[in-house]
Amino acid sequence: MTNSPAGERRERILRAAVRDRLVDPDSAALAAFVDLDGVAASVAALHRAFPESVNVLHTFAAKANCLVPVLAELRSLGMGCEVASPGELAQALAAGFAPEQIVYDSPAKTRSDLRQALELGVAVNADNFQELARIDEILAEAPAATSESAPASRLGVRLNPQVGGGGIAEMSTATATSKFGIALEDDGNRQRLLAAYRDRPWLTWVHAHVGSQGCPLELIAQGIAKAVAFADEVNSTCGRRQVIGIDIGGGLPVNFADDETTPGFDDYVTALRTHAPALFTGEYRIVTEFGRSLLAKNGFTAACVEYTKVSGGRPIAITHAGAQVATRTVFMPTAWPLRLTAHGPDGILKRGEPVPQDIAGPCCFAGDLLAEARPLPLLAPGDIVALLDTGAYYSSTPFHYNSLPDPAVHGVRVDPDGHVRFRPLRQAETLADVLARTGH
Ligand SMILES: Cc1ncc(COP(=O)(O)O)c(C=O)c1O
Repeated sequence: MTNSPAGERRERILRAAVRDRLVDPDSAALAAFVDLDGVAASVAALHRAFPESVNVLHTFAAKANCLVPVLAELRSLGMGCEVASPGELAQALAAGFAPEQIVYDSPAKTRSDLRQALELGVAVNADNFQELARIDEILAEAPAATSESAPASRLGVRLNPQVGGGGIAEMSTATATSKFGIALEDDGNRQRLLAAYRDRPWLTWVHAHVGSQGCPLELIAQGIAKAVAFADEVNSTCGRRQVIGIDIGGGLPVNFADDETTPGFDDYVTALRTHAPALFTGEYRIVTEFGRSLLAKNGFTAACVEYTKVSGGRPIAITHAGAQVATRTVFMPTAWPLRLTAHGPDGILKRGEPVPQDIAGPCCFAGDLLAEARPLPLLAPGDIVALLDTGAYYSSTPFHYNSLPDPAVHGVRVDPDGHVRFRPLRQAETLADVLARTGH
């Protein structure tokens, strides 16, 4: 197996992690790593892709990696934060984001969630007409910060532009029947929405998140174009420049097949320029909410091989990474395949002849497989399997089956002289932590 520059960097990090016993068959058989230099480079690429002439707030979708030190790192790089639950809001505040850098999206905000967001001055995108009515009530009852005349929060409505779905149905949020937002093309909705904006001068933003992994750039850009056209329609119908900003969501897909970062943020901006040129005239402010495209390729997970066996002629390596950290991959392997690399106990890439083998996890169900019949150098007990591109929606999106503890997550930087430095982003859960979350 040959190694790309990104692969060499991972190998260097893994070797240092073994040396520092951050990966260890006895004390740390599973650990995750976030490459903080890589995160900074991804954020810089995002900032570069959008023209300076447009007022853009790039927020990071906390659901993709909700670790508070990761969020704090992103804040220090000039990002805002998109949250979708009270927990994520608490994480964003703990990471030091100012309320005006935070956007709150969720289809199920309670009255108290809304009240808290409005009191803080966090931006809110209403998901539906009933939520708009709740916001009316809260603004009417409210003192200064939430006064109806000038709420501190930027307030918008999430539209479903209904442009269709992408390659993964579960990630497609702009289908005709999606649960998110107000379906723009359903009978009467456009008129109802226009009236909602006309009657609420404080409704000054339009939001659309077309979908995530699996959605082609063209489809996403077409959905955003419909949101921009709707904003234009509000402003011409109201006879004033009421909508001042478009929140275009996230969704840039990630290449899980190799180390290339493609498509890039600049490809997405090109698609947006083609389909929604009005976004770049300077008339509208822009908010973005990228998650996976900023973090996925900047993280990997390392799992020790505990045992190996052969069943029905198939070699099987039983590792410590399964559904608890790779939930989507295990339950939907076709939609979420992961690249895996095989390393010796010292972290060095194994270079033997590839042999098809199953890479299994520790969970007690037969489907707990990271990969079936994957050609890799034959694994042995004590070897290490690396799960690549797991910086987003993996170790921070746990599945607590079998009461397996959440692994440690380490931040990594590599100095120009090659020296690898780690810092803890999350401690591994102890058995006491597991007992605490299981009612003890
Ligand atoms: C409203 C919203 N914004 C942003 C995102 C982040 O998407 P991605 O990680 O694909 O960029 C999501 C993902 O589910 C979302 O629902």
